[in-house]
Amino acid sequence: MDSGQKIEDALAAALALTATNDCPPQLAAALHHAVFPGGQRLRPRLVYAVAQACGTANSPAVAAAAASIELIHCASLVHDDLPCFDDAATRRGRPSVHAAFGQPIAVLAGDTLIVLAFETLGRHLSRYPTRLQKLIGIVGRAAGAPFGICAGQAFESEPEIDLAAYHRAKTGALFAAASAAGAAASGFDAEAWRHLGACVGEAYQIADDIRDAVSTMDEAGKPVGRDAALGRPTAANLGIPEALARLDSLIADATASIPACPGREKLAKAITHQAERFLPPQYGRRAA
Ligand code: IPE
Ligand code: IPE
Ligand code: MG
Ligand code: MG
Repeated sequence: MDSGQKIEDALAAALALTATNDCPPQLAAALHHAVFPGGQRLRPRLVYAVAQACGTANSPAVAAAAASIELIHCASLVHDDLPCFDDAATRRGRPSVHAAFGQPIAVLAGDTLIVLAFETLGRHLSRYPTRLQKLIGIVGRAAGAPFGICAGQAFESEPEIDLAAYHRAKTGALFAAASAAGAAASGFDAEAWRHLGACVGEAYQIADDIRDAVSTMDEAGKPVGRDAALGRPTAANLGIPEALARLDSLIADATASIPACPGREKLAKAITHQAERFLPPQYGRRAA
């Protein structure tokens, strides 16, 4: 079974905890809508890629870590689309959660997914208390403040924003957590792996900013031009050539930082290959 199917199964198992007759039906439906069908599942795939490089991709701990990271991501999208943030009616080519279910249910669905991320870790790592403690710290740091998604989104309410700090917190932190979690769930030193994900995440946000500036809504599956309309700091303001150069240098930094492990070379190739697909086709010059 490839990691894609394992990720879907782990997410389905996590959501099954909420989809009982006791759950208010609209909340249960909104939770499902927020998680399935997914997008690219980049972050849980990074969890698996690191675990594979460490030689331990088949453990329930890795599946729980991957699901937990993706649940936080899905929650962040539900909240990010709300009218008080980006006011986006479309996500992954479908109505965003508040567009489909209303704002109260969307707020609660995001909250529930965040809580479920930690419950999922607790359920599947009870036999590995040291790894559990480490993973709770990793996921909590990426979701909250001062380094995580809450801090990243909060920068948007500040009068002045440093672009790199904003990107690191709102996007880089969860990718950093994904690489650290893949190592921690495998019993490896998580901190040594954090830089890899942080670089990939910052690069991904640069690509998303470029997509926001140059793609159509059909291509992106979500509203585009939002950064400019909302006055957000965006990598597109650097000019496309400089933004692309920054993206390339982050990916080079990412692959160079991979700690010694059995699958180091294979992982470096996979990261480079994946990063080539971050950008819209007109910038996909990376085959050269
Ligand atoms: C969207 O992330 C939010 C950003 C950090 C740019 P993704 O592009 O990974 O979203 P999905 O999960 O694939 O839809
Ligand atoms: C995404 O930021 C980061 C989080 C959701 C935390 P954006 O607002 O730039 O992402 P999209 O473009 O809506 O996916
Ligand atoms: Mg946003
Ligand atoms: Mg947004």
